[in-house]
Amino acid sequence: MSATKTAPTHEGGPTTAILEMRDCGKSYGNIQALRGVSMSVRQGKVTCVLGDNGAGKSTLIKIMAGLHDYNAGEMYVNGEERHFSSPRESLGSGIATVYQDLALAPLMSVWRNFFLGNEVKKGLFGMDIATMKRVCGEELTKMGIVIPDLDRPIGSLSGGQKQCIAIARAIYFGAKVIILDEPTAALGVKQSGVVLKYIMKARDAGLGVVFITHNPHHAYLVGNHFVILKLGRVVLDAHRDEVSLDELTEEMAGGKELADLSHELRAADPGKVVDPSTVEHGSIDAPTVDLPKVRD
Ligand SMILES: Nc1ncnc2c1ncn2[C@@H]1O[C@H](COP(=O)(O)OP(=O)(O)OP(=O)(O)O)[C@@H](O)[C@H]1O
Ligand SMILES: [Mg+2]
Repeated sequence: MSATKTAPTHEGGPTTAILEMRDCGKSYGNIQALRGVSMSVRQGKVTCVLGDNGAGKSTLIKIMAGLHDYNAGEMYVNGEERHFSSPRESLGSGIATVYQDLALAPLMSVWRNFFLGNEVKKGLFGMDIATMKRVCGEELTKMGIVIPDLDRPIGSLSGGQKQCIAIARAIYFGAKVIILDEPTAALGVKQSGVVLKYIMKARDAGLGVVFITHNPHHAYLVGNHFVILKLGRVVLDAHRDEVSLDELTEEMAGGKELADLSHELRAADPGKVVDPSTVEHGSIDAPTVDLPKVRD
């Protein structure tokens, strides 16, 4: 752990960043996975990080989560410069990470998973099962998650329910920042909508949310701020006011690259290639559940 510098205050903006990266870089041997990445996570806001395969999204969150260290630039947590040497250190600073392949024990019950690693003890060797079940039930109810039987193995729940339980757990154990790595990637439309609702609940509980996704529709439904990574660099960094869903979709679809590709293909076989500028971005991927409007 190091706390040598403090973040310059002029970048504080309307709400001070809980976590801020400045010109961060990370290389794995001679592969430069991230270069000059700057972004911030603010209390009560959802920062969406979008990018194609290999863009550097997982590398970015692994740095925040303490799995890897960055080797250029700076990272500030609550204004202090930090290098995490383990996930425990990141968690200790209030940063909870929910991975897509959740770190849950599938055969253990819902309540047991909720308290995994934070069990309430009773006596010298025992566990206070009654308290854990009660608190788990109360916390899930607070989040509007209905699981009739908390003794059920968590592996029998849907992917969306598991994501929601992981979010509720992070909030209960006092996370200040929650990082969600593609939480909706493996989910259908309806379940994605449910997870997006809990992202908004985490935001309303005052957490800074980092939402990693490939899906601009999902991002736009809940995001306050958008960062697009391409080949390890930030190619778009915009507040909700500064970007439309169409622009986000276009940027994610690789706007210019797609136009160049279309041009190339058309030269090979005119008449069979659709010009991307004539294609309207539909909303087939957008969940149909009612989500509250995103505030700034
Ligand atoms: N442990 C590693 N060792 C070497 N190279 C790595 C390692 N992890 C990632 N990379 C490389 O770094 C780059 C960024 O990878 P990263 O996994 O961060 O991308 P991503 O945006 O999460 O992609 P995806 O959407 O496929 O998950 C890629 O070129 C990848 O091959
Ligand atoms: Mg990844």
